[in-house]
Order: sequence, then C-alpha cells, then structure tokens
Amino acid sequence: MARTTIGIVLNGVTGRMGYRQHLVRSLLALREQGGLPLPDGTRLWPEPVLVGRSETKLREIADRHGLTEWTTDLAAALARPDVQIYFDAQVTAQREKALKLAIEAGKHIYTEKPTAEDLNGAVELARLADAAGIKHGVVQDKLFLPGLRKLDRLVKGGFFGRILSVRGEFGYWVFEGDWQEAQRPSWNYRAADGGGITVDMFPHWHYVLEQIFGRVASVSAHVTTHIPQRWDEAGERYDATADDAAYGIFEIERPGQDGRIVAQINSSWSVRVYRDELVEFQVDGTEGSAVAGLRNCRIQHRASTPKPVWNPDLPATEDFRSQWQVVPDNAEFDNGFKAQWELFLRHVVLDEPYSWDLWAGARGVQLAELGLTSAREGRRVEIPELRTEGESA
Ligand SMILES: NC(=O)c1ccc[n+]([C@@H]2O[C@H](COP(=O)([O-])OP(=O)(O)OC[C@H]3O[C@@H](n4cnc5c(N)ncnc54)[C@H](O)[C@@H]3O)[C@@H](O)[C@H]2O)c1
Repeated sequence: MARTTIGIVLNGVTGRMGYRQHLVRSLLALREQGGLPLPDGTRLWPEPVLVGRSETKLREIADRHGLTEWTTDLAAALARPDVQIYFDAQVTAQREKALKLAIEAGKHIYTEKPTAEDLNGAVELARLADAAGIKHGVVQDKLFLPGLRKLDRLVKGGFFGRILSVRGEFGYWVFEGDWQEAQRPSWNYRAADGGGITVDMFPHWHYVLEQIFGRVASVSAHVTTHIPQRWDEAGERYDATADDAAYGIFEIERPGQDGRIVAQINSSWSVRVYRDELVEFQVDGTEGSAVAGLRNCRIQHRASTPKPVWNPDLPATEDFRSQWQVVPDNAEFDNGFKAQWELFLRHVVLDEPYSWDLWAGARGVQLAELGLTSAREGRRVEIPELRTEGESA
C-alpha cells in the first residue's frame, strides 16, 4: 500500500514518557499497524529521528527497535528537510528553549506538558508558533483515558442534571530512594530543575476540568513538601526543594449553568493508595453521581440513591460501593497517547481541527502558576482569560 513518510524529531526519548508512551506505545505502535490510514487509502508512516544527550542510550534504543535515525545534535536534526514535526519530552526546564529552536526552524510542534516553566514563557511560545504559521499541539493524555471518556460521555448526555461538585484524588507513595529506589526521577523534587507536583499535575487538571466541565475561573491551593529529603538516582541524599503535595480547590464556569461548580483535587506523591485507581474523580449532580478513574466509571442515579442515616452507634448496614452501576465501554479505547498522536498527525497532514494547542498548554501553566501564588499568599485567585493573538488588548 502506498505510504508517505513523515519525519518526527523525538527529543527526550530516553526518558520515561518519551520512550514508553510516545515512541513505543504511540509511534512504533502506529508502524506495527502499517502506519496511520488516510482518507485517500494511503498510509502515513512516522519516521522517528531520536534526539538526546547520550549517544550510547540513543544507539541502544535505535538498535532495539530497528531504527536508523538518531543524533545528539538537535540543530542538525531540526535542519533536516525530511523532518516536519518536533516533539519534546525532555525534562520541563529544557523545553522552552528547544521548542523555540524548532519553531524558528519552521517545524510543527507537539510537546509534553507543562509547555514552559512560567506563564510568560508559555504564552510567548504560543505567540511565536502562531506567528510562524506552524501547527502546534500539547499532550493532554488524560482526556483519552477510558474512564474519563466515559465521564465526558455522561456529562454530554446530561446524566448529572445540574453539576454541583467534582472531587478528585490523585497520587501514590513515591519512595524516598534510600531503602527502596524512588519510582520517579529526582528532578521532580528539585524546584531549580522544574520539579514540583503543582507544576506537574495542575496542567493536567486544567484540561480535564476545562474540556469536560467548563472554564476554570479560580484557584485556591495549599501546597507543601511533606518529605524534605530524598535520595537520587546515584543514591546521594538531597534536599527536596519542590512541593510533593498540592491540595487545590477550583471553581468552574459551565456554559448554560448558573453558579460555579466546585472542584477539589488532591495531588500527592506522599499518599498511600486506598482507592481502585491511581486517580479518581467523583462528580455529584442533582440527577446522579459518577466515580471515574483511569479505566472505569460507575454511576448512581437519584432514583437508586440510598438514604443513609447518621448513627455512629450502629455498624454500617449497607455496602455502599455495591450500590453503583458500571458504565459499559460501548467503544474500543486505544492507548491515550497514541490516540492523541493520531489526531495531531491528522491535523498536520489533513488540516483537521485540533484544539489542544500551545494556548491550551499555556492555560495549564497559568493554573499551576496561580495555584502557587494562591498557596504563597494564602488566598483565592481569580483566573484571567488569556488573550490570544489577534484579540484586542
Ligand atoms: N503526560 C503525562 O502523563 C506525563 C507524565 C510524566 C511526565 N510528563 C512530562 O514529561 C516530561 C518528561 O518527564 P519524565 O518523567 O519522562 O522524565 P525523565 O527524567 O524520565 O526523562 C527526561 C528526559 O529529558 C532528558 N533531558 C534533557 N536535558 C536534561 C537535563 N538537563 N537533565 C535531565 N534530563 C534531561 C533526559 O535525558 C530524558 O530523556 C516532563 O516535562 C513531565 O512533566 C508527562
């Protein structure tokens, strides 16, 4: 079958996300299925150009997957005429300058979040990308998770009636690194290296809340570092200078609904899991409630809502969890990262619409920044709407 090759620079491909989710589970998975089918019957064949700092690691990854194109020279990779897309999954602190180089080189941009370390940087990137006339996209993988797709379907189908509140619980215990190796890279716990759970997770919560419920209008956050010392990849003790837990309250303006929805989301790398999934959102509405995780979603309609009566003298007589009904898949869900890659590739080659761009990424960075402001100043912060290029000042 006829196929068109599209060159994609993958920077940060030796990292957890770059390697596993973006290279193996997305682009190589697409190649395994023969490429991305296009409407004209041909296939789009992604050709990764691996970029990183270590020749040894790049060669090893390329050999393992039968790839031939890799380099430690980003400028050389960006100068290649057969490369159309630059993708970035480096550590956050390295992202902004690399994205700028790629925009200057006229490549389309696809990137991990957060897009920059602060709002000014994130907005500048979006402006530069628009001015250069390139296409741009930001990873918003949680939207493509089966559990959240089902939740979104419930919202769109009007299941909840008036939506009152969202409560989210995210996190797990990340080992300190002394007696058991830490399962996250140490830069996550150093502010100077772009670490911190607020900067990491608030961009995710932003797009989840915005896309499923409505505009995020305010934030109040309490942010803390529960574990002040950790041990790095080399077994060296270091000070954790970045936050490892963020307790946030967000208000959401939902079109067509009076009053704001309140969303309260706990994010923590210092919590032990007593949940069904690593992230869960409970949504309560006048007509019904739902609990959605990564994969599963359960509902309780108002008609089947039990009537518990508070009496601490008696043991619980009801099994509350069993009173919820499982929402069926009714669809096949592919890996979320791959699903979003496919949409971005279609955006680039077919000009299909794509809304998860650098402006959406900037709104996520804005939420993290204002969340940290709220925590520092001990107050609720209203979130101004970002002006996009072309709008009057
Ligand atoms: N979408 C998601 O669900 C998700 C999940 C985790 C992380 N992320 C984002 O992906 C990015 C990478 O995170 P990760 O967990 O894969 O990190 P990681 O430490 O596993 O990988 C980081 C990559 O950046 C490279 N790098 C470039 N310059 C570096 C430098 N100066 N110091 C250290 N490494 C450098 C490393 O070689 C490696 O390839 C981060 O921006 C993070 O916010 C997204």
